[in-house]
Amino acid sequence: MVVKKGVKIAARSAAGMPGPRSVTAISAAPSARPQRTTTSPLGGEASIALRRTHYHTRILADAVAIFGLPVHARPPALAARVIVKLLVGTPERWNRPLAGCAEMAGCVIFRALRDRGVELFADEPEVAARIRLLYDEILGDEIGHVGYLAAVLGPAGRAVMRGLYRALGHRLAGQLPELVALCGRAELRRRFGAAFRLGEMAAELPGRAYAAATI
Ligand SMILES: [Fe+2]
Repeated sequence: MVVKKGVKIAARSAAGMPGPRSVTAISAAPSARPQRTTTSPLGGEASIALRRTHYHTRILADAVAIFGLPVHARPPALAARVIVKLLVGTPERWNRPLAGCAEMAGCVIFRALRDRGVELFADEPEVAARIRLLYDEILGDEIGHVGYLAAVLGPAGRAVMRGLYRALGHRLAGQLPELVALCGRAELRRRFGAAFRLGEMAAELPGRAYAAATI
């Protein structure tokens, strides 16, 4: 998601997984300079999460700038900030269901972005194929993260994860203006309203996605 304004990054951090790709990072300006985080009240973990956020945000912003598109920095939405603070400020075994919820939302969001990208570039098959490939790689990661968290959580933890996803997933997506502009609120509602079937998502990406457990 998650993504990211910090959500996806923090989710990966909390789950002990590397290599965040961000939904939300697209909101920062290409000219934004890396910020010092030595005064972060959340300590080392938060500091690392912030540095990662800025690093990935700058990469994406610079990539977008190649096409002459302005990218303006703004703080993440309230829900994203709250989730990030919870993820970095509570013990991992407590926040796994929340991290799992963010990963589930990430699956839905990246899928929506992929499908919309392919649709928008339908008249340029090579571009559409590249968009599909890159998003499928991200999606494969996200599916693996959901499966990992589902595997380490017990039945009760998985139930909390599902409940959080139902309560927060569409709200998180609705706070990403770029996503709403691309897909529309009705389409996002439809996607988040549908049953979350991890096994089917993994089956769509043979050789690219593996889920250790289903949710
Ligand atoms: Fe993830």
